[in-house]
Amino acid sequence: TERFRADPATSARIDAATGGRRFRRLRQHDWTRRLVRETQLSPADLIWPIFVREGSGAPEPVASMPGVSRLSVEGCVEAAREARDLGIPVLALFPYTQAEMRDLSGSEALNAGNLVCRASRAIKEAVPEVGILCDVALDPYTSHGHDGVMEGSRILNDATVELLCRQAVVQAQAGCDIIGPSDMMDGRVAMIREALDAEGFRDTLIMSYAAKYASAFYAPFRDAVGSNALLKGDKRTYQMDYGNSEEAVREASQDLDEGADLIMVKPGTFYLDIVSRLSRELGVPTFAYQTSGEYAMIMAAVGNGWLDGGRAMMESLSAFKRAGAAGVLSYFSPRAARACQGR
Ligand code: PBG
Repeated sequence: TERFRADPATSARIDAATGGRRFRRLRQHDWTRRLVRETQLSPADLIWPIFVREGSGAPEPVASMPGVSRLSVEGCVEAAREARDLGIPVLALFPYTQAEMRDLSGSEALNAGNLVCRASRAIKEAVPEVGILCDVALDPYTSHGHDGVMEGSRILNDATVELLCRQAVVQAQAGCDIIGPSDMMDGRVAMIREALDAEGFRDTLIMSYAAKYASAFYAPFRDAVGSNALLKGDKRTYQMDYGNSEEAVREASQDLDEGADLIMVKPGTFYLDIVSRLSRELGVPTFAYQTSGEYAMIMAAVGNGWLDGGRAMMESLSAFKRAGAAGVLSYFSPRAARACQGR
């Protein structure tokens, strides 16, 4: 091989210019890199979202989310065992509700025997050491795909909040540990806290989707829960405008004042500035949701052979930790937990 030798004078000038600081010294070996790494993803940082469906049998793949399937209740229990064995602390449950079960007010959300409640009970019974997070919002249950009840084309705030309180109590009764209001109605955190306390669920946590933006990156999720085709219009009268950052601070502060224990930013990847601001300015455990669209985007590139999946996954998840997130809700969770353990 050809040998290149720098002129010693060049080296001397570089040392003079840099004050002798050569950053590459610490990057020379795997062990030096590991020694000085500032943030490290671990399985304990992960929340694993799963989709529950009616019936038994094999997982049902979600076309727009390669590697993600809708599971039977028994399949959810299996996933909970896997989460426990991988060291993933929390599972998030989302239902696929058939069109004929949906109505204008999402009344199935209040059914103590709905899919999410059945899965939650089954998991609590078989794998009590895994935490359960349930979304509070009506969209998996409404015939119009919106998170609240509608009058004409308006989504009613206060009437929706009344239903969300009942939905939260029903979920807590089914064993849900963390209530995750993802609806973006005003005042719902305070009202849900009050409703939970009144029913004796003082210890049930609230993780509010404090800064949830009206985003294009939820589309595959809406396929997974069966609301994409139904959705009329968009969610911009309740979800946040993506031009705003100050408003995220006000939203999150308000949710904390109302009693939220944890906050969430969603989507994640394109909102790392918000994750960073909220975690540093408010000093509360802040979570990021790497949404279905972010997952699908990476997996589509992987499917085309354009990205290395394992590397893209770990880099994308580590970014949340670096930005200050306490943890990440990600469809990569089981695969990432295995990667963390070198499996
Ligand atoms: C429902 C809800 C949505 C997501 C989580 N909860 C969709 C929406 O607001 O339309 C999206 C999750 C994802 O894209 O992975 N309120």
